[in-house]
Amino acid sequence: MNDGDETSAAREAKRFGPLGTVLVIIPTYNEAENVESVVERVRTSVPEAHVLVADDNSPDGTGKLADQLAADDEQVHVLHRKGKEGLGAAYLAGFRWGLERGYGVLVEMDADGSHRPEELPRLLTALGGADLVLGSRWVPGGRVVNWPAHRKLISRGGSTYSRLLLDVPIRDVTGGFRAFRRETLEGLGLADVASQGYCFQVDLARRSIRAGYHVVEVPITFVDREFGDSKMSRDIFVEALWRVTAWGVRERVGRLTSHRRTP
Ligand code: GDD
Ligand code: MN
Repeated sequence: MNDGDETSAAREAKRFGPLGTVLVIIPTYNEAENVESVVERVRTSVPEAHVLVADDNSPDGTGKLADQLAADDEQVHVLHRKGKEGLGAAYLAGFRWGLERGYGVLVEMDADGSHRPEELPRLLTALGGADLVLGSRWVPGGRVVNWPAHRKLISRGGSTYSRLLLDVPIRDVTGGFRAFRRETLEGLGLADVASQGYCFQVDLARRSIRAGYHVVEVPITFVDREFGDSKMSRDIFVEALWRVTAWGVRERVGRLTSHRRTP
């Protein structure tokens, strides 16, 4: 992409069209120490955006705190889900909620402050010339602060494995700070997404590339949470590994048996 070329920028703006109202979806499970701060920071950083907290009936009362925020602010909404069903299921429900209500841009953001709301305007600017923008830790300018070495290794390793096996030209495939145009989500076939854990992020990135969308990575600074615990688990890791491997193998076998040769 040539950012400095005005004619191509003008062409892109025309091709991509204006952005509609923004909905920032924040999935929560036991984020009572974080939810108020993150919602407030989003409201300050992008005052015109709406926020949807998608809470899986957190035992620590996150859902009630979110209700209080929503009662005081008509741009804050809460989706109460019956129990913990994973990040993927929470986002699918949040996307459905937002698409039904006509939002033009749907943003994914963690509740724990790792995704800095102050960086959201940069993502939205980039979405002016893209179908999907990924906040990326692993492109030049991207950073990770306070993450233990083993989490960096899992994240970088997971991204590299996915990139090579799935042939997706993305450095941070598992990241969860993203801005989608509604048309992009509508073109991804969300009805048959089965991913529950963090591989949901890989799944959507892969589908976006396959669908031919223009995906742009924007560097972000990812700051590890100060409060509460990560929900990363062995099960989430295992699900990601087997799903990514299965997608990769299936696509490769599909190419071999389709009897089409690229010259
Ligand atoms: N509703 C709901 N249900 N929310 C959930 C669930 C769930 O089952 N599991 C996690 N969340 C929420 C958390 O409350 C948090 O807001 C967000 O999803 C991310 O969870 P974390 O537990 O903070 O994830 P992490 O910091 O370990 O992982 C980060 O890196 C992953 C790998 O790169 C995140 O950026 C992930 O999005 C990313 O995939
Ligand atoms: Mn986190």
